[in-house]
Amino acid sequence: MHKKSSPHVARLQPSRTLPESLEELRAGLLGTPRSIPPKYFYDARGAELFDRICEAPEYYPTRTEDELLRRHAATMMRDCRPGELFELGSGNARKTRRLFDACEAQGHSCDYVPMDVCEATLEQLGSELQRRYPWLSVSPMAGDYNAGLANLPAATNGAVNRLVLFLGGTVGNLSEEHGRLLLGEVRDLIPAGGHLLLGADRDKEPTLLEAAYNDAQGLTSEFNRNVLHVLNTLLNADFRPEYFEHHAPYLPEKGRVEMRLVSTRAQQVQLPRLDATLELRAGEYILTEISRKFSYPELEQMLFSSGLRVKTHYESPDPCYSLLLAESRARTPAEEERSAASRG
Ligand code: SAH
Ligand code: TRP
Repeated sequence: MHKKSSPHVARLQPSRTLPESLEELRAGLLGTPRSIPPKYFYDARGAELFDRICEAPEYYPTRTEDELLRRHAATMMRDCRPGELFELGSGNARKTRRLFDACEAQGHSCDYVPMDVCEATLEQLGSELQRRYPWLSVSPMAGDYNAGLANLPAATNGAVNRLVLFLGGTVGNLSEEHGRLLLGEVRDLIPAGGHLLLGADRDKEPTLLEAAYNDAQGLTSEFNRNVLHVLNTLLNADFRPEYFEHHAPYLPEKGRVEMRLVSTRAQQVQLPRLDATLELRAGEYILTEISRKFSYPELEQMLFSSGLRVKTHYESPDPCYSLLLAESRARTPAEEERSAASRG
């Protein structure tokens, strides 16, 4: 039997200059508080652990969002009629299949462009989807969404009705400033007729939030500490993950959960590729991720200030979670001027 090869993983060229990875790691590790950029979580092992977190009973966001998608996919697809689905940080796109299923049921074919930093995930995703949805044209793109989206090729079918997906509450992993910047770039990908489907976790009781980021099986702890193995490889460093504990406090005044690696003792870590030594006190922590939790007005405001407006709000009341279908809004003349100036 003729076996179709899996789709080629293309590379999304940066449209914004990012600091070199070594410089970015140096700034994070030697700064205050100490920090590691979250994209380093996702080596093959990290991606696998993340998939398992998504199935943990305490981690409600995945199944809550999945249920919203299952329930509303048909309406969404009828409303958007997308020629292309472009997904930011697709991961294994398990939930996205709800949308493909709806397209299939409606006899609507479209292209799918999953984008992620983790190439291993994209390779596997491409071949799985090709097998399951032969009518779907899949074109994976490896890249870093912090490096800008302006070089995304025009929708392959020339369609303007692109639907951008940003699911899983990943928008909460960005700072307010980064979130606004990225959503502003998303807006430029969806001229009139296009849409954004944004999944965002809502503010709720701290005990539920803290349990979601500290599952009893210890998967989140494994996932968090795995980033130290990644750094050992990248920097030829000698982090000892067993000398760190996973902590995930919810900070109500900041409206976010912080993923931390707390040093259980005073220790020194050698960072040969950075020509530096990291000194940690007992109890000192490295910040590895933030996960912001939003009120509905905050979400609406964030979208608005990025030139978008909410068309439909799909909400799960308990646990509280939002899926927002948004479209671009006309910019005011003052906004046009500012945006032209920032493009230079
Ligand atoms: N959308 C999936 C996965 C969410 S986890 C879901 O809802 O379950 C976040 C995903 O974003 C991971 O697959 C990770 O590899 C990817 N990611 C993290 N930082 C990224 C970056 N800077 N650029 C592109 N993808 C990134
Ligand atoms: N987007 C996910 C979230 O904020 C990412 C995530 C889930 C995560 N669990 C984690 C990141 C644990 C770091 C550690 O919910």
